[in-house]
Amino acid sequence: MLSAARRLLAPSQRSDVPPFMVMDVLAAAARIEAAGGRVIHMEVGQPAAPAPATAIAAAQAALALGRLAYTETLGIRTLRERIARHYRETYRVEIDPARVAITTGSSAGFVLAFLALFEPGDRIAVALPGYPPYRHIMRALGCEPVALETDEATRWAITPELLLASHRKARLSGVLIASPANPTGTMMSGQALRDVIDAAHGAGIRVISDEIYHGLDYAFPAETAASYCNSFSKYYCMTGWRVGWMLLPEPLIRPIDRLQGNLAISVPTLSQIAAEAAFDGRAEMEEVKHGYERNRRILLEGLPEAGFERILPVDGAFYLYADVSAFCSDSFDFAKRMLAETHVAVTPGIDFDPLRGQRFIRFCYAGSAANMHAAVARIGNWLKR
Ligand SMILES: Cc1ncc(COP(=O)(O)O)c(C=O)c1O
Repeated sequence: MLSAARRLLAPSQRSDVPPFMVMDVLAAAARIEAAGGRVIHMEVGQPAAPAPATAIAAAQAALALGRLAYTETLGIRTLRERIARHYRETYRVEIDPARVAITTGSSAGFVLAFLALFEPGDRIAVALPGYPPYRHIMRALGCEPVALETDEATRWAITPELLLASHRKARLSGVLIASPANPTGTMMSGQALRDVIDAAHGAGIRVISDEIYHGLDYAFPAETAASYCNSFSKYYCMTGWRVGWMLLPEPLIRPIDRLQGNLAISVPTLSQIAAEAAFDGRAEMEEVKHGYERNRRILLEGLPEAGFERILPVDGAFYLYADVSAFCSDSFDFAKRMLAETHVAVTPGIDFDPLRGQRFIRFCYAGSAANMHAAVARIGNWLKR
């Protein structure tokens, strides 16, 4: 009787997606803080700065008016037009605002894109190391993520050779590319991006480009792909506002409209209003970006001196991925010890790469310069002990 009742409450198999291992690190950091310790948080991938003042002011003005109604399913028309203008000004590409769909962060954009592009059972290539939810969302939707292992030889990005070799073994329906990437912070050159897209299209493989870290490029400018997911979360420091956008090829506009209409009706109105005003706060966000550049320099100078000599190319986003295999065989345990003994919290690579992640840790450098200096000093002293 009891087991029959329990069966009724049993979760579906597809809901069985892995959690973030970094949550264990966060819980340990919270225990240190509860006991009065001061933790330098470099584990969570989000800006320490608030949203642009222009966005906050627009949201306050909208709240003062009182009523917040649903918007059109694909988003407020003026916001979609503003995004199209951004592409004209930044990338010199003309985009019909009708092709812009506002989403609840890029996270919802992935769900919509995978639903609109793929059937259950379809195989979609993703880079390892890579952002774990790509794989987990695909699995929950019945698609099969196919991990392509990147390394120094491919500059930690998917190449045409990697993609086509995998496609020859078993047919791929899609590929997800990201530049700048999480957790590596590495970028693909414009040519490398075009080569992968051309190879994919030539083989009948659909391409989704995650451009959430655009605007945060230090080594060279990021180039945009033809269709992609993007977000106000990172460059505009608006993670909690949950607003992003997609640029859709024309045949997907109506399917995405229908899907979003059913799944969400529309994206939170207050966040859309704030997002439109965020474009007027770019000067403020460029200042924040300069802070990341400064932090990047502090880590690039300090971490090798402290002992971390093997670091992946730190081109963009606000991540640094370091090989710690000279110090340990399990970076999860290493991150836990480092937190306990230096109070610097980082993410173990196992979250991003189940195969080789135990060799790596990820630093997020979206905090203050003072914290970067302090982290380098604490780690240096610890490794030298
Ligand atoms: C590579 C990458 N893509 C997408 C996301 C999702 O962000 P959001 O849903 O806030 O746009 C993140 C968040 O950390 C990320 O790192």
